Amino acid sequence: MALNGRNLLANMFTSSRSSLTCTYKCGNACFGECENTSDNPYFGDQFPRRTALRAGGLAVVAVGGSSALAACAAPDDNGSAAGGSSNKTSEVKGSDIELTSAEGMHFEAVDANTKDEVVIPKGYEQTVLIAWGDPVIEGAPEFDVNNQTAADAEKQFGFNNDFAGLIEHPDDKNRMIYMCSHEYTTEPMMFPNYDPENPTEEQVKIGWAGHGHTILEVSKVKGSGELKREFGPLNRRITATTPFTLVGPAKGTDLVKTSADPKGEKVLGTLNNCSGGVTPWNTMLSGEENFDQYFAGGDIKDEKAAESLKRFGIEEGPSDRKWEKYDDRFDVTKEPNEPNRFGWLVEINPLDPKSTPIKHTAVGRFKHEAGNIHITKDGTVVCYSGDDSRFEYVYKFVSSKKYKEGDLEHNMTILDHGTLYVAKMEGNSPEKEIDGSGVLPEDGAFDGSGEWVKLLTSDTENNKFESHVDGMSAEEVAVFTREAADKVGATKMDRPEDVEVHPETEKVYIALTNNKYRGATGENAKKNKEDAKEWAPVKENKNGLVMELEDDHAGEKFTWNLFLVCGDPREASTYFGGFDKEKVSPISCPDNLAFDNHGNLWISTDGNALDSNDGLYAVTTEGETRGELKCFLTVPAGAETCGPIVDDDRVMVNVQHPGEADDATFENATSHWPDGGKSTPRPAVVVVWKKDGKIGTE
Ligand code: FEO
Ligand code: CA
Ligand code: CA
Repeated sequence: MALNGRNLLANMFTSSRSSLTCTYKCGNACFGECENTSDNPYFGDQFPRRTALRAGGLAVVAVGGSSALAACAAPDDNGSAAGGSSNKTSEVKGSDIELTSAEGMHFEAVDANTKDEVVIPKGYEQTVLIAWGDPVIEGAPEFDVNNQTAADAEKQFGFNNDFAGLIEHPDDKNRMIYMCSHEYTTEPMMFPNYDPENPTEEQVKIGWAGHGHTILEVSKVKGSGELKREFGPLNRRITATTPFTLVGPAKGTDLVKTSADPKGEKVLGTLNNCSGGVTPWNTMLSGEENFDQYFAGGDIKDEKAAESLKRFGIEEGPSDRKWEKYDDRFDVTKEPNEPNRFGWLVEINPLDPKSTPIKHTAVGRFKHEAGNIHITKDGTVVCYSGDDSRFEYVYKFVSSKKYKEGDLEHNMTILDHGTLYVAKMEGNSPEKEIDGSGVLPEDGAFDGSGEWVKLLTSDTENNKFESHVDGMSAEEVAVFTREAADKVGATKMDRPEDVEVHPETEKVYIALTNNKYRGATGENAKKNKEDAKEWAPVKENKNGLVMELEDDHAGEKFTWNLFLVCGDPREASTYFGGFDKEKVSPISCPDNLAFDNHGNLWISTDGNALDSNDGLYAVTTEGETRGELKCFLTVPAGAETCGPIVDDDRVMVNVQHPGEADDATFENATSHWPDGGKSTPRPAVVVVWKKDGKIGTE
């Protein structure tokens, strides 16, 4: 059946993301006009330029040697690997010196490919832990794609799993608790004969149940890293209709009141939960990302509200999923404040299935990719978060309350007390050396300094909230955070995704996934006038960047450098922490980040623009082999790699939207993963372990 959703355009985007993914995942955020049309002053216009410290470890490791082959070669036109075999040894060999890969990096890199399977290194095993529709709550039926009901779906594993967390079980050493978010639903691939113009009420309600989160008890398999799904009292589904409590400066204000919730305190559900984080107090943080797409736009009289809807890209006309047909709250003409109740960072206590999850409004409202916690020596909690749209910003929240080990009730209030900041940065190389090609400037680094600019201070316990933005009240800064950040001249980034803090060096890593409109020419030139900058030095950036910050975590100053300029290492525009580019895997569109127990950074990708499937990569961050990057696994065609979780015993990835291609439908599936045959592709969770040892060891 033909797809005729509102925005099913041909894919103009250079990444491999399909138009189906674009419509259902992010409401075509990649196609439309830029949401950020603000005219932020350039940092250098406001502050005197200063000499920035070069942020750590940029020494170039000279390991030339033309005989060495790429670890994970770029694909040729047929999608098969070119450039020779994989790096078979754990040694990085060059003509003059010989380097040994860092601990945890001893695996044979996986070649770029377009297979309809999860490809893992030799010597490793894999299993699917759970897939869309599998029972989560005891008594739920096994998945039957032709007989779905909303009542069943509320007890089964949701669609499009994204963030993944894993913690020890509180009272069973043979079990662990797995938790994840379900970002979005792709209805044309979920239902036979789906009519996007006229979804049935049951289909819409199955969509609501397909969103949210899963908490799942899993058992350990002795002698391996394998995990098995179990029923247990902690198993829980959270959906688009589960009650959440609003906490902080926006709670109870006129900006969040609706006819169903005249006090502005309780929200039904959570939407488009992308990545997240596990807190040191064992709760799950989850970012509400592209929430705009669920709302039918309309005529809004309130000027501020109308401006905000526009700033988030809410368009006039029906929504793609037509949820407004079955619940007025998804129609902004009828409920103009309902969108203000999404776009938050939510916190869930996975160990209490009866607990009401929280939306922390002190952390600001934007398209939250995630929330990741770092605790300073004095117990101050710092929460980093990116706003994943083109030319949006990086934020951090610094708590005024201190972390108290073992005091869950206290710790779950920390994100309601403190100050929200947005990042402003500048480069240290002359602007003429940043020509948009991605080639390094004369000082050998894309680097510079920055500062965190205060937006909002919250003291929820005493109901005291202070705006630091001229002309905006505290609740306006909380709800209209993008506009507040515009006003203080925040730095426009290339789609900030996950932000993670290195567990030992405490450096902060930011995935900047891509930005087609940065310095664009031709048709796209009018979409935004932002050109290449030292922090975003590639025009029409299609492969993304990974930034490294040395941050005074609780303070207001930082230095930064680009650790990775992603892409095909054969291209001059790429940079791998100074490592020999002949010996790294191609990587494109970095998204989710995680650290292993050795301090290697693991990067999952979304939208590989190099004609290969997305994958999971490990890169060394410190020492002589800093920048050595290897592909650990690839996911099936059309899928995005999410999660990930990496520990000594296992690697876990959430395989999101397998088979999501431009013309894919239920009837015309382009993937049959994971069940094979002619089966419907299902988003699923994969566990990988080494047959005889720890992950990444010889
Ligand atoms: Fe849902 Fe920013 O990716
Ligand atoms: Ca520089
Ligand atoms: Ca993501």
